[in-house]
Amino acid sequence: MKWQPSGSTLGDQIPAELPIFGFAHSADVIAELCLAGGVGIWGATRDTPEEIEAGLAGIVEAVGNRPFGVDLVLPANMPELDDRALIEAQIPEEHRAFVAQLRQKYDVPDDGQPGMRSRFVRSNEMARRQLDVVLRSKATVVALGVGSPQDAVEQLKSAGKVVVSLIGSPRHAQKALEAGADVLVAQGYDAGGHTGTIGTFSLVPQIVDMAGGVPVLAAGGVATGRHVASALMLGAAGVWTGTLWLGAVEHDLDPELQKMLLAAGVGDTVQSRADSGKTLRQLRSTWTDEWAADAAPSPLPMPLQDILIGDLLGSVDRNRVLDLMHTPAGQGVGYLTEIEHVQEIVGRLVRETEEALGRWSTK
Ligand SMILES: Cc1cc2nc3c(=O)[nH]c(=O)nc-3n(C[C@H](O)[C@H](O)[C@H](O)COP(=O)(O)O)c2cc1C
Repeated sequence: MKWQPSGSTLGDQIPAELPIFGFAHSADVIAELCLAGGVGIWGATRDTPEEIEAGLAGIVEAVGNRPFGVDLVLPANMPELDDRALIEAQIPEEHRAFVAQLRQKYDVPDDGQPGMRSRFVRSNEMARRQLDVVLRSKATVVALGVGSPQDAVEQLKSAGKVVVSLIGSPRHAQKALEAGADVLVAQGYDAGGHTGTIGTFSLVPQIVDMAGGVPVLAAGGVATGRHVASALMLGAAGVWTGTLWLGAVEHDLDPELQKMLLAAGVGDTVQSRADSGKTLRQLRSTWTDEWAADAAPSPLPMPLQDILIGDLLGSVDRNRVLDLMHTPAGQGVGYLTEIEHVQEIVGRLVRETEEALGRWSTK
């Protein structure tokens, strides 16, 4: 593994050529990233167990023996059962009325189908079924976003998986270390997706210091080789990226979302609880503005918010209701200036990292 800090066990645990980890919901991006020498991590938290099995089989076929990973989100305090009626019964009328008003205002067709967030209820039942498939899979790495339950970590380790825990604060890092995580992702406030309140530069060295030899990957705002080089200087064993891959040709994102991403600057994202009930960094949009307005109700906790808005957002995407289309993205979106192939993005990161490291070499 290139640029591996001395003493790091990362390369032994995950034998890739580059300590560049990339999260994406696109299996094609994951496969290409692994073939380019990085470590692709497929986001499968919204997929059914059957879809996860098929998706992972496809990745194995594409990457052969190269290491790759899969990401699940296993938050605490979720309902026991995947029972939509039980959740529906807890949604206040005020919230239903607000969403109905949005549907009308933006002319969102009611096509009777669920969306990505409402096709099943995030629940302990579904988490167990997803975990079962992942345990039996050929994935080298299993990443846990938003919480690392001890029993899940133990089962994964017994099945020979390298367990990577995403954390956003020293307190969460402590819990993940106690649960037995093999690698920590110190994910700063800048990151796309669910984020905490501590910036990447403030977080990473703290976590490296407390990790006691457990490798730490830096996440949140890593978009160029200069960021990769800085992450290494902060003591990270590598980087974990997400927003970067939204600009990959292979991601096959809706052209409207690509346009929004390319136009956005570093200040054009917000944290909003309107999608999942937890703070999620995304491009600022009409959707986030509507939920931030004085008249809007406060978003509900997960998984109630998923079910409240899931069908609406499914229709927004299926029917391309441009006003309400939006995407998670981190502050690093300001560095996305063109749609490139994964191979080109990796090549650029490597070149830029070496240039940046070279500027400081004392030779
Ligand atoms: C579109 C998108 C979706 C994400 N979804 C998840 C997810 O399902 N699970 C997870 O652990 N992290 C998720 N993340 C966070 C990434 O794993 C990663 O930590 C983050 O993108 C790193 O910061 P960056 O966006 O600045 O590169 C997501 C990020 C993005 C951009």
